[in-house]
Amino acid sequence: MHHIGKNNIKYFMSTIFYHDNGWKQLSDTIVEKSYSSVFVLVDQNTKSHCLSHFDQHFSHPYTLLTMDAGEANKHIETCEHLWSSLSEQGADRNSLLLNLGGGVVTDLGGFVACTYKRGIDFINIPTSLLAMVDASVGGKTGVDFQGLKNQIGIIREPAFVVIDDSFLTTLPSNEFRSGYAEMLKHGLIADADYFLDLATEQLDVVNSPISNHIRHSVEIKRKVVSEDPYEKGLRKILNYGHTLGHAIETHFLNHPAAQHLLHGEAIAIGMVMEAELSYRTTNLSIEERDQIKAVFSSIFDSISFDDSDRSAIKALLKHDKKNESSEIRFVLLKAIGSAVIDCLVSEEDIDAAFRFYAD
Ligand SMILES: NC(=O)c1ccc[n+]([C@@H]2O[C@H](COP(=O)([O-])OP(=O)(O)OC[C@H]3O[C@@H](n4cnc5c(N)ncnc54)[C@H](O)[C@@H]3O)[C@@H](O)[C@H]2O)c1
Ligand SMILES: [Zn+2]
Repeated sequence: MHHIGKNNIKYFMSTIFYHDNGWKQLSDTIVEKSYSSVFVLVDQNTKSHCLSHFDQHFSHPYTLLTMDAGEANKHIETCEHLWSSLSEQGADRNSLLLNLGGGVVTDLGGFVACTYKRGIDFINIPTSLLAMVDASVGGKTGVDFQGLKNQIGIIREPAFVVIDDSFLTTLPSNEFRSGYAEMLKHGLIADADYFLDLATEQLDVVNSPISNHIRHSVEIKRKVVSEDPYEKGLRKILNYGHTLGHAIETHFLNHPAAQHLLHGEAIAIGMVMEAELSYRTTNLSIEERDQIKAVFSSIFDSISFDDSDRSAIKALLKHDKKNESSEIRFVLLKAIGSAVIDCLVSEEDIDAAFRFYAD
């Protein structure tokens, strides 16, 4: 593990509260802080599936703000609309925003809260698996811009996070898989046993110990972020699968006529392809490379890329904001459970990674 920024000003990391403890913390905070007004941001789906459960646990009056669901709405016009609503409804510096939804709601709602009147308090109540284990932890907020993911945003922690996995009962199974991909990633970069547990248990909200796994993933992410909140080094390991994955996600987002890929589905492909890059660059064993592919293909459908997809995705890689110069740097694996940052790979390796995925 790298040791970075010993002299950095200590980064505040929000506490994550679970279940009843979380709801109690929420009620107590509202009383303690005497907020001037409380707003709750939902999208249409979390409005119909999550709001009634929320209302059972939250008795304070609030104003509901609704946005259209989905990544395609994670843009600045949605923020403008919400800034207007906040303003029209008299939100002031002492108002509170609760983000009740998946990663789109928590990323965008967080950004709206950070920028409205130079910043009001916000609390994340993630309702998708992906938002629970990933998006609501670590303070990254923001929106997509000019076809590029998360181009505009800010790092700022919510006041705290409330995780209640009973929201997951209404989550569509493809969305569940999408979050599961991030959990598998946590195993790949930091904990081989965890990866194997997840690989064998698979995808069963009712019967698998998903609550424990959620906590474990949150702890892995928190540990990494607390050591390197501004992504100077170590935090980059969370981007395993994301360099290619983001390019693939962006490509399909920009071509709505093509198949629709969720974030986790795209990074699942990225993780398989980057296993091949790891085999070629950081000596990941052939057995582990193949195991990674086998695990992901047992969970995710295979996607096919034609020549024009491949060249568009390669062009997008060059835009990835994580690439400091024109070089493309990857987070790769030395072994399952152990990641290396800032690895350079050649275009030939990337072509090989596409072939490995397609085989
Ligand atoms: N900030 C970060 O560190 C970070 C990390 C990972 C991902 N992200 C971002 O998170 C986003 C992806 O998050 P996501 O997958 O949660 O997307 P999302 O917010 O679009 O949620 C997925 C879908 O599930 C619906 N939904 C959510 N909870 C539900 C529930 N309980 N029941 C029924 N439907 C429900 C939503 O309405 C949406 O249609 C991306 O924009 C990604 O960039 C951010
Ligand atoms: Zn991700």
